Amino acid sequence: MSGKDKLRKFRENESFSCLLQPSTEDVLNKDYYIKGEWNSEMFHNDNPIVVELGCGKGEYTIALSQMFPDKNFIGVDIKGARLWKGAKFATEHNLPNVAFLRTRIEFIQSAFASDEISEIWITFADPQPKRAKKRLTHPLFLNRYKNFLAHDGIIHLKTDSQLLHNYTLEVAKCNHLTVIEHNNDIYGSGSANDLLSIKTFYEAQFLAQGLPITYMAFKLDNKEEFVEPPSAGISV
Ligand SMILES: C[S@@+](CC[C@H](N)C(=O)[O-])C[C@H]1O[C@@H](n2cnc3c(N)ncnc32)[C@H](O)[C@@H]1O
Repeated sequence: MSGKDKLRKFRENESFSCLLQPSTEDVLNKDYYIKGEWNSEMFHNDNPIVVELGCGKGEYTIALSQMFPDKNFIGVDIKGARLWKGAKFATEHNLPNVAFLRTRIEFIQSAFASDEISEIWITFADPQPKRAKKRLTHPLFLNRYKNFLAHDGIIHLKTDSQLLHNYTLEVAKCNHLTVIEHNNDIYGSGSANDLLSIKTFYEAQFLAQGLPITYMAFKLDNKEEFVEPPSAGISV
């Protein structure tokens, strides 16, 4: 994508009412204005809210919003040119239950209040082989999520990375979290239902390389401070 193209998308992003783009000052050590008010300010209903972290172009957020019109969906990513695609689609199709938030996931606690979110999807996150602390399922991140994920809320992790999948299983095990389901080859095992068959931009590329796609769902039902597994950071 050319620089000109990016600038055009950034400009158009300003016009999408479904896309919020807080500045660093808006979220650094303070609450963003819509925290705790997403349903009243953005969606105008009381439906459960599902968040997709690292949503890229928003394929999961958009597809889920169409499958579940009685839930609200927020895709989060830092890259404006990627979010543009989802925000443009949601705008052009008048999707009432979709929003996007451009921010670093490190600041996510500034955007959501206690119990505000019912489910989290993490789709094809960078496995960060050398920097475990940057993984979106590292205990540092889980400790952030537990501040806003409702009791009994579910985290869905879909990835091509066996490393991230196995690491997250270890994190869940050592923190006594309930793993609802895990599968290290959803298509090969024939267990990809409608929900799991939604394909993102990155997933299509990994599938073309013949990589198996993994899935796990777990709960943050132990509310203690989460800790790293003993083998953290070691490539699996
Ligand atoms: C490998 S891409 C996957 C995108 C999309 N989920 C897909 O499957 O096509 C990872 C995405 O996570 C976003 N991301 C990674 N770390 C992030 C962070 N700390 N805060 C916000 N976004 C992040 C990147 O900008 C990128 O769009």
